[in-house]
Amino acid sequence: MTGVDLELRLAGYQARVEAALDARLPQASTVPERLHAAMRYSALGGGKRVRPALAYATGELLGVPPEALDAAAAALEMIHVYSLVHDDLPAMDDDDLRRGRPTCHRRYDEATAILAGDALQVLAFASLAEAPAPAGARVRALKLLADASGTAGMAGGQAIDLGAVGIALSAAEVEDMHRRKTGALITASVLVPATLAEAPAQLCATLAEFAASLGLAFQIVDDILDVEGDPRLLGKAVGADEARCKPTYPAAAGLAGARARADELHAEALRALAPLPPEADMLRWLAGYVVDRRS
Ligand code: IPE
Ligand code: IPE
Ligand code: MG
Ligand code: MG
Ligand code: MG
Repeated sequence: MTGVDLELRLAGYQARVEAALDARLPQASTVPERLHAAMRYSALGGGKRVRPALAYATGELLGVPPEALDAAAAALEMIHVYSLVHDDLPAMDDDDLRRGRPTCHRRYDEATAILAGDALQVLAFASLAEAPAPAGARVRALKLLADASGTAGMAGGQAIDLGAVGIALSAAEVEDMHRRKTGALITASVLVPATLAEAPAQLCATLAEFAASLGLAFQIVDDILDVEGDPRLLGKAVGADEARCKPTYPAAAGLAGARARADELHAEALRALAPLPPEADMLRWLAGYVVDRRS
């Protein structure tokens, strides 16, 4: 399997989750039209779809076909999109551009963006509740996604982020924040499919170890790209973190320190997967994609 093949596979997963989202999002012609339009605007037609791709790649390892993971992949992306819609609000990062287009509250309005986020969040759980898996496994997967999204995960990490604006955090403190705000959902992206498939505990532990390194690397690279990325490729503004005195890894450890840490975490992620067979190659490739990306 070459890098080009795996890149094509990512494109296939991106198209696949786009269709899964489209099928699950209410039509914009259905009342309340403006809310539904805002949800579709935010969820469809953009983004790298890394979390769904991780879910499908975990399916490759476990021998679970992609069609059995569409509900979970859509759920993971809905939580992510909801987090982005709220992250961009004036009360949080106050950003105007997302995925190359005006942010949800810019295109619609703040109240609609708040509700679109709320509705995407609950639609995620509705979607996962319909995953084709034994009922007990589904309940465990729902709990896992809830924990990853809540105060121990994404929402908690975002609270720490906002509470630390203008405060100099140590690299260790930034890592803790990053593991929560971004790492938790990345970890859920491999553990939700593994849980649905009732994978052995040892394999779940290996996947969790991989995703913990990858999730932290993901947010460190996001921070690096805010410093030295190309806004046209990123589809969002750069320099915003420094301008707003946000707590980031480059602010704590310098740009070179951040790059070195991301590379170290990439190596750690690959080490975690070392005992796994070639069916884990898509997961291995995604780790490189996350660390080397320009968008
Ligand atoms: C951006 O996430 C926000 C973070 C959690 C770092 P992505 O870089 O995955 O954004 P999209 O989904 O590709 O737009
Ligand atoms: C966002 O982190 C993390 C989330 C949980 C949404 P950032 O605020 O750095 O993400 P971007 O840079 O706006 O995409
Ligand atoms: Mg933010
Ligand atoms: Mg932001
Ligand atoms: Mg950022």
